[in-house]
Amino acid sequence: MSTPSRERHGDDGGELRSPVSSHNEWDPLEEVVVGRLDGATTPSRHSVVSCNVPPWAARFQRLAAGFRYPQALIEPAQRELDQFVTLLQSLGITVTRPDPVDHRQRFSTPDWSSRGFCNTCPRDSMLVIGEEIIETPMAWPCRYFETHSYRALLKDYFRRGARWTAAPKPQLTEALYDPRYRPPEPGEPMRYILTEFEPVFDAADFVRAGRDLFVTRSNVTNGMGIEWVRRHLGPDYRVHEIESRCRTPMHIDTTFLVLAPGKALVNPEYIDVDRLPEVLDSWDILVAPQPDPIRDPLLQLTSLCGKWLSMNVLMIDERRVIAERHHTTMLRALEKWGFEPIPCDLLHYAPFGGSFHCATLDVRRRGTLESYVDRAAGRSPQVG
Ligand code: ARG
Repeated sequence: MSTPSRERHGDDGGELRSPVSSHNEWDPLEEVVVGRLDGATTPSRHSVVSCNVPPWAARFQRLAAGFRYPQALIEPAQRELDQFVTLLQSLGITVTRPDPVDHRQRFSTPDWSSRGFCNTCPRDSMLVIGEEIIETPMAWPCRYFETHSYRALLKDYFRRGARWTAAPKPQLTEALYDPRYRPPEPGEPMRYILTEFEPVFDAADFVRAGRDLFVTRSNVTNGMGIEWVRRHLGPDYRVHEIESRCRTPMHIDTTFLVLAPGKALVNPEYIDVDRLPEVLDSWDILVAPQPDPIRDPLLQLTSLCGKWLSMNVLMIDERRVIAERHHTTMLRALEKWGFEPIPCDLLHYAPFGGSFHCATLDVRRRGTLESYVDRAAGRSPQVG
């Protein structure tokens, strides 16, 4: 099966080869966007933000909301980020970056106003499906204009032949958020802060395995958002929902990741292996080991993420994988499963929303659109 590659022609009539082309999480990486720390501002005090911040960091977030992040957090993160970029470049990968922006600037719509957040995590605001790059309708008001800092890049990719789309711009009025929401207690059925007022989703709630995409519903991705992606992509793709037991889910990439054809990495706290979609029946399910504890009190108090960032790895190709140097248990597990981990530091990025997978957006991987799952799964056995 090969990509149904449409021919596109530039102004001079010459054929354009899209600089955006990525179908899965593991084909050889050629070009990647890496986020930025400049101008990062603590996310606003909105209920859709606080319900996703770990309880121990909620105090910091409430006090610091709308202020620039302190240098004491930026500096170590910047050092690690610079080394990560150098590592990617040394592997022959082209690295592009968003424009620096002062995220503290206030902006408004007819319905509300907010300050910004940051552009540390391009994974969240843009979804690459083949040659198309989709700006996502994000549920956090402070992230409303986040893709503007990528517009120079997006326009350049477009001029050179990429397809560029933005999902319907959400209104983010009060009707989108359940005012009575509180996270479910253990044993209570799952619930989310979002209503079905309009489609919203973050790209980071999706992972791609060619014609099959996996998504988690979350406090930033509602049912209509998932349906929008499904209908937009049409019959060439299938979008499978992965149930997460995380009580405050936001972003699939600390819960379920596809690492290579037939290999998925799962979080044992959030994923019930017996309830994975049947199309994965023939896949190896790699259960992530318990993360190595992080004892730095400043990181504990300010991380926007939980401990499972140990899973937030970036595939360079089917074997090589960039993973956190601190998480030696994960590095050893990856080796045991046949991968070649490349250790790198990025622990201090957690206050800004993530690690290697979050901090990047793979715009080009060398490969074609394929199907990697067991098509026969789910069909009843043929009798006689
Ligand atoms: N909610 C996840 C956690 O707390 C964070 C995932 C971050 N991912 C991202 N793409 N920004 O672990």
